[in-house]
Amino acid sequence: MRLKNCHNFHDYRKLAQKRLPGPIFNYIDGGADDEVTMRKNTAAYDKVDLVPNVLRGVKDVDLSVTVMGQKLDVPFYCSPTALQRLFHHQGEHAVAAVAEKFGTMFGVSSLGTASLEDLRKKHSTPQVYQFYFHKDRGLNSAMMQRAKEAGVNVMMLTVDSITGGNRERDLRTGFSIPMRLNMRGLYEFMSKPHWGINYVTHEKFKLPQLDEHVDMSGGAKSIGGYFTEMLDPTMNWDDVAKMVREWDGEFCLKGVMSVADAKRAVEIGCTGIVLSNHGGRQLDGSRTAFDQLEDIVMAVGDDIDVIIDGGVQRGTHILKALSRGAKAVGLGRFYLYPLAAAGEAGVDRAITNLHVEVLRDMRLMGCQSIADLSPENLIANI
Ligand code: LAC
Repeated sequence: MRLKNCHNFHDYRKLAQKRLPGPIFNYIDGGADDEVTMRKNTAAYDKVDLVPNVLRGVKDVDLSVTVMGQKLDVPFYCSPTALQRLFHHQGEHAVAAVAEKFGTMFGVSSLGTASLEDLRKKHSTPQVYQFYFHKDRGLNSAMMQRAKEAGVNVMMLTVDSITGGNRERDLRTGFSIPMRLNMRGLYEFMSKPHWGINYVTHEKFKLPQLDEHVDMSGGAKSIGGYFTEMLDPTMNWDDVAKMVREWDGEFCLKGVMSVADAKRAVEIGCTGIVLSNHGGRQLDGSRTAFDQLEDIVMAVGDDIDVIIDGGVQRGTHILKALSRGAKAVGLGRFYLYPLAAAGEAGVDRAITNLHVEVLRDMRLMGCQSIADLSPENLIANI
């Protein structure tokens, strides 16, 4: 399979699987426990049908949205994800370049492999910084200060990861950072020499957001270990209220799911919430963002920007989320597989196709602008 044969999410996934050593592919591809929530994230979209309107004159379609003060040309954005240069040596730079081309937002993770300052200098499009709350409060302040100075537009605090999810695929392969593999994992790496050559011939792997603060070199600190040892499970609403005041700008919580929490996010002055179950990678058996969207929008939709992510594979998924009141939709694996498959060319092709798909779907729905989408466009089919 080649890039030119990739037409949808599943094609890129297959190509990524072919290119990546098994442990890395499974790190992206896997979820927590039995991966039930991960599967449901996409299946949730099939429970409602779109009801189109016809004969409305839809030559020009405006896909732009404004979310957390950022004007985006398209209603989807690249969510922050970890370790991108492990998947392809172009990593975050490839994703940011494509986000910029399409006039949308991209995220940089605390566990990112390119520095938020470099990305900010190179790309003018809105930049989100995905933040974890560390036990060391001084470290939290220093990291926020750094992001402020770099010109990050939106602070996005992840609240669903105070401890690592149970990723059994990673336990089997021994995937960890820095890489320490068991025999099977080692064999998988040796069977993908092309990936290995690219990895060793490009800029050394690092975690620039953390390097100066956290020693990730001693011992096999798995992602789960980092979550458990470094992050603060006592994090509470007062801590976050303080952070919101300190940041004094666009601030959103990623991983809010309950109506009560959505209301508290409004109370402490957040400007956005991302309904998310972390791609099914944290609490398996938890509800999907799409299923929860209606209740949340009803409760706080007028007070805060409600965004969702998880399981999005199609333009119609995005239209369904927007019809239900989401202000924008985040993509994760959707761009990670293309990144792993072919670097920037892969991400560009996947996002170009999605853009075309959303435009086509809007025309077929009889909609000229995102504001034309409403809950009336959706009917439950079960
Ligand atoms: C993960 C974290 C790092 O899901 O976002 O692996």
